[in-house]
Amino acid sequence: MRMTVIGTGYLGATHAACMAELGHEVLGVDVDEAKIASLKDGKVPFFEPGLPEVLERNIANGRLGFSTEYADAASFAQVHFLGVGTPQQKGSFAADLTYVRQVIENLVPLLEGQHIIFGKSTVPVGTAAQLQELADSLAKPGTEVEIAWNPEFLREGYAVKDTITPDRIVVGVRASSEAAEVAREVYATAIAAETPFLVTDLATAELVKVSANAFLATKISFINAVAEICEQTGADVVSLADAIGYDDRIGRKFLGAGLGFGGGCLPKDIRAFMARAGELGADQALTFLREVDSINMRRRDRVVQLSKEICGGSLLGKRVTVLGAAFKPNSDDVRDSPALSVAGSLSLQGAAVSVYDPQAMDNARRVFPTLGYAANTQEALADAHLVVLATEWQEFRDLDPVAAAGIVDKPVIIDGRNVLDVDKWQGAGWEVHALGRNL
Ligand code: UDX
Repeated sequence: MRMTVIGTGYLGATHAACMAELGHEVLGVDVDEAKIASLKDGKVPFFEPGLPEVLERNIANGRLGFSTEYADAASFAQVHFLGVGTPQQKGSFAADLTYVRQVIENLVPLLEGQHIIFGKSTVPVGTAAQLQELADSLAKPGTEVEIAWNPEFLREGYAVKDTITPDRIVVGVRASSEAAEVAREVYATAIAAETPFLVTDLATAELVKVSANAFLATKISFINAVAEICEQTGADVVSLADAIGYDDRIGRKFLGAGLGFGGGCLPKDIRAFMARAGELGADQALTFLREVDSINMRRRDRVVQLSKEICGGSLLGKRVTVLGAAFKPNSDDVRDSPALSVAGSLSLQGAAVSVYDPQAMDNARRVFPTLGYAANTQEALADAHLVVLATEWQEFRDLDPVAAAGIVDKPVIIDGRNVLDVDKWQGAGWEVHALGRNL
């Protein structure tokens, strides 16, 4: 099939490349000239394992192209995917829909014939219906443009796998629509592999996405709230999570206690969900998400507080190594990163902070230029009074505690992600602190 993908950020670039990989003819469109120039060159402007290979392969075989022109999108295909960002509005919890509306305003007046626009961005419930009204008001006489919603569930770091072999496909359509049949063709490979394919109304499809992210955020904050109780009682949150996780109604995934969630999705999505509930007069339904957000933020404070206690009550002049800046491993994304937030707070409280991350150094420097940045783990560890493991990159999990002890000034570490082999580290002479554990 021929299709366009409008918006070539994280979601759009991945979707475009993966649709071409599945055999479709794809045109990626973005108004950002630098981004399009880079993609045309076969270069992915962010870190995502496996994506550069898929991009290069499909540019070379001619199935994938890029353009900055909406007119090219209008003439290339009758099926369009919309994958622009919906960031948090400045000064509010609500999602900013400016970019989503701009796509409709720029694309629809250029279309002729029958077109379907599948929204993939995460939007407040009711957005698709509003965009349909907007599209109807902009379409040329005789042109029909349908808005359908096809939420995206990809995780950073696994974006290619999650797009090519998703765990489910959800398509929201209006009554008596053919969009579901078109989506079946788009996702024929996954459907042939028995991937669940759910057709819903528009509002349900929009809500599926935010509900999934709110549930994941709640699960993480649940275990982090229990971690707070463990800290007061001497209980161990890791053993506790193992024990409750064996109940398959609960499951062990997303019960990783530690510094909590960050990134470009979970924090903004739970806030936008609350804001939308308020607009709908149903704010009580989601007030618990405010607590989910607070529990999450308290974990960052806890690490800063613990660092201070370990350093004898003041961080002034202490050398603290922060391992990790990305919001999670296998990503260079520092949006709302717990690691960078902790590094920033430690620095603002007078510590000399040395940060190292295998991929996120440039992005971290842009957001927080005043922190110290090391060229590698060894340099970051040199003469440290305290080490904070903030993002669980494999490289940090594999650190040799004996060698590391020889580099630092004091062998004291806070395992902010509960991933280290505590016995091994203690055996090498380290004082190990962790969240939700009394070691
Ligand atoms: C998330 C959703 O998983 C994905 O389906 C959606 O499309 C976009 O949002 P992503 O933001 O890439 O994906 O990251 P995810 O793997 O969900 O992790 C989110 C955050 O939670 C990270 O900061 C991670 O470190 C943290 N986390 C995750 C925990 O603190 N504990 C856990 O047990 C799991």
